[in-house]
Amino acid sequence: MVFNENIIVGSNIGDTMIENQLYMQAVRQNSDNFLRKNGVKPRYLIKTYGCQMNEHDSEVLSTMLIQMGYEEALNVEEANFILFNTCCVRENAELKVYGNLGALKPIKNKNKDLIIAVSGCMMQQEHIVNEIKTKYRHVDLVFGTHNLHTFPKLLRQVLNSDDMLVDVWDSEKEIIEGLPVIRKKDTKAFVNIMFGCNNFCTYCIVPYTRGRERSRKPHDIINEVKELIADGVKEITLLGQNVNSYGLDFKEDYSFADLLEDVNAIEGQFRIRFMTPHPKDMSDKVIEVIAKSDKICEYIHLPVQSGSNTVLKAMNRGYTREDYLALVGRIRAQIPDVTLSTDIIIGFPGETEQDVDDLIDLIKQVRYDSGFTFIYSIREGTPAAKMTNQVDEKIKHQRFERMLEAFNDIVIEKNKAQVGRVVEVLVEGTSRTGEQLMGRTRDNRIVNFVGDNHLISEFINIKITEAKNFSLIGEMI
Ligand code: SAH
Ligand code: SF4
Ligand code: F3S
Repeated sequence: MVFNENIIVGSNIGDTMIENQLYMQAVRQNSDNFLRKNGVKPRYLIKTYGCQMNEHDSEVLSTMLIQMGYEEALNVEEANFILFNTCCVRENAELKVYGNLGALKPIKNKNKDLIIAVSGCMMQQEHIVNEIKTKYRHVDLVFGTHNLHTFPKLLRQVLNSDDMLVDVWDSEKEIIEGLPVIRKKDTKAFVNIMFGCNNFCTYCIVPYTRGRERSRKPHDIINEVKELIADGVKEITLLGQNVNSYGLDFKEDYSFADLLEDVNAIEGQFRIRFMTPHPKDMSDKVIEVIAKSDKICEYIHLPVQSGSNTVLKAMNRGYTREDYLALVGRIRAQIPDVTLSTDIIIGFPGETEQDVDDLIDLIKQVRYDSGFTFIYSIREGTPAAKMTNQVDEKIKHQRFERMLEAFNDIVIEKNKAQVGRVVEVLVEGTSRTGEQLMGRTRDNRIVNFVGDNHLISEFINIKITEAKNFSLIGEMI
């Protein structure tokens, strides 16, 4: 679906950049006038929903706004430009956006000059854009995931018009490198290695909102990682919807395992994590590289989704429970102290109590260290939404509780077994109460301990003295 003709052709990167500069200058003039008139710069607020893909997009948009003369607002009331970068992976993500968008209406009524924009995955769906057009008339700008780079042009247009501008591209163009991005100075950074997804799990909306798989060139990724490390970043997470298919779209033979090896070879003291590897195509070479590389953490997030072959098939996951368990066996044989986490969906259409039993059995065999558990949410436009054997909401919740109890029993037991260990912790900041420091072990466990703030962003050794259910307490040694 294309709602508006686009003038900028994404495939011509040079032109896009030059054109962007012109639009940026135009908006910048606007901001300078605003500053002269009001004594302050115009202020922006971006609220990001969903995953790291959206977080990264928001960083790019925020950088563009700063380059166009804006500064960050502390709250909604003082903002001149508000953007919601949205997610639609589950219904509650969407409901949050609608709720928060509705709450902006009285604010817009008071401040007619306020510009409200919505972007991200939700906007890639025609029925949602129609909803915005009819029920959220106070929105000024709607754009999607594929035309993020044209934001300066869109903002320029909106600043000069009272009408709602909707510009959503129906498909991705090639990856546009070199978009400006100022990262928050942090201990950890996320680096996209690929965009989109080709897997079409039948429950999932992501392939429809993020398009087909496109891998970033290795040298672009490696240069970005090198810059981050030079800036003091101590942990890099390589991101993609299915990192195991990284490079399949290249002419040359270069896989995710090669990328892991090359990132591991970058000089400096830092950790490497990655998300998400799809179990259907995790190569032995990837496992081997993790096992022998010093910087890659012994922690693998391996979404299983279901423990029943009937459900896995209906989900189009591309593996059976036997395949999955065999993969876990191969991983554990090569990386004995590996920790595993997972994603699980309860209540997929057609699921029976026996399927839940099978899942619990698998959970008990794998003995996960952590995980994300979800109740199936119908996503309009996906094949599973059309399945007629949807599970009753109440039953979904009962099954969810049953599964979660089994899952958490193991997670808690494994966490308690950490007491007495001495572990390397990367200090990320202060604990939630603010009284202690918080860091993570290589296997991704949270550790709180007493220490001085100058230790933030350092690697230190900690002895685990106590285990809460989902976090650890330790002391410096
Ligand atoms: N690409 C990643 C996950 C992306 S979405 C992967 O394949 O592992 C993150 C998680 O959200 C999924 O793993 C799945 O467990 C969950 N999810 C996706 N669609 C969902 C839906 N319609 N209902 C409930 N959970 C869903
Ligand atoms: Fe969604 Fe499946 Fe792609 Fe993950 S692999 S983003 S769950 S379609
Ligand atoms: Fe991420 Fe949500 Fe989109 S999980 S890819 S922001 S639908």
